[in-house]
Amino acid sequence: MATINNNYLKLKAGYLFPEIARRVNAFAEANPDAKIIRLGIGDVTEPLPAACRTAMIKAVEDMGDRDSFKGYGPEQGYAWLREKIAARDFQARGCEVDASEIFVSDGSKCDCGNILDIFGDRNTIAVTDPVYPVYVDTNVMAGHTGDANGGTHPARNRGEYEGLIYLPITAENNFTAQIPSQPVDLIYLCFPNNPTGSTATREHLQAWVDYARANGSIIFFDAAYEAFITDPNIPHSIYEIEGARECAIEFRSFSKNAGFTGTRCALTVVPKTLTGKAADGSDVELWKLWNRRQSTKFNGVSYIVQRGAEAVYSEEGQTQVKALIDFYMENARIIREKLTAAGLAVYGGVNAPYVWVKTPSGLSSWDFFDRLLSTCNVVGTPGSGFGAAGEGYFRISAFNSRENVEEAMQRITAKFKM
Ligand code: MLT
Repeated sequence: MATINNNYLKLKAGYLFPEIARRVNAFAEANPDAKIIRLGIGDVTEPLPAACRTAMIKAVEDMGDRDSFKGYGPEQGYAWLREKIAARDFQARGCEVDASEIFVSDGSKCDCGNILDIFGDRNTIAVTDPVYPVYVDTNVMAGHTGDANGGTHPARNRGEYEGLIYLPITAENNFTAQIPSQPVDLIYLCFPNNPTGSTATREHLQAWVDYARANGSIIFFDAAYEAFITDPNIPHSIYEIEGARECAIEFRSFSKNAGFTGTRCALTVVPKTLTGKAADGSDVELWKLWNRRQSTKFNGVSYIVQRGAEAVYSEEGQTQVKALIDFYMENARIIREKLTAAGLAVYGGVNAPYVWVKTPSGLSSWDFFDRLLSTCNVVGTPGSGFGAAGEGYFRISAFNSRENVEEAMQRITAKFKM
């Protein structure tokens, strides 16, 4: 009789965004005339940059010609793309990242989950609370979270998964976690932050890097939203921080900056200087393990999509990507201003496409979600869906058309003016 991975039974019933979609679909079915505006999942709405489309069309033509046709590509990604990424995203910012340390993939969500394949199952793992749910759920699936919910550690004793260390990020600590007092082996950091829209200063990141090096920890640095940073003093990459090559893996994506959520292209940086301990106490290069993992379980991103991603670095592509980012950040500004004027406490939305809102009148996150959906026909994301410390907060995404954002703000401010 085939048995299952019992860890899946420990997962919460549904992943956050499908659960939201389920509720929204039920509402839409019951209210067919409602004009629902979706500011929930951070999915882009504006078309792919013309430079990317042109490059992909050309790549399709390449595939129709025996001389330029491509079969399997390199598992790590084509060198012409990795070299551009290394030069433009990293070396131009003074980061010592070589093209050989870049692994092109079909998404940061996959990479954040898959990376656990190369780590042991006895690591102590820290996540912020609230947090992008993929970090938690993939650790539950891998059996890293103990047998039950609960736990006795004061930081965990909040109905969360035993075996994970939760670092609360709230308005009180400016949405930046306190460095743990105990040693932690794997640490997930996401800056600009999903869901709170906060950023980390150079000093804060340096403190994490110093901590990680002192404890032999590895930082998983999710920089999927780095392109939305507007403050020139905020680091875009963990490798801008001294010592990070000894302790950090960075995840990046073309999804949010270049509109690739449906096209799929991302990258992970694993410096060759990174090591982890084998059971016999020896140091093993993580790059070698990740390369082995990817070349066994992954056949690379399609040639066509990689040509599209390459076009992001052309002059035309850069201008078009900047216009997309400016567009969404103007949406974020409108959301912040309208909600602030309505008397709501808002955070984020300055260096990130997410606005984090304190729910009015002490409403729970899900109550506010239901209220907003039923009275304004606007969808957001309940803060508690990102963790216990997100209770009483609500995330509004800036990814939508200007018309929809303005209309949604008009509806919300009319109903919720404090
Ligand atoms: C979000 O809304 O948090 C993101 O769209 C999720 C993701 O990028 O997977």
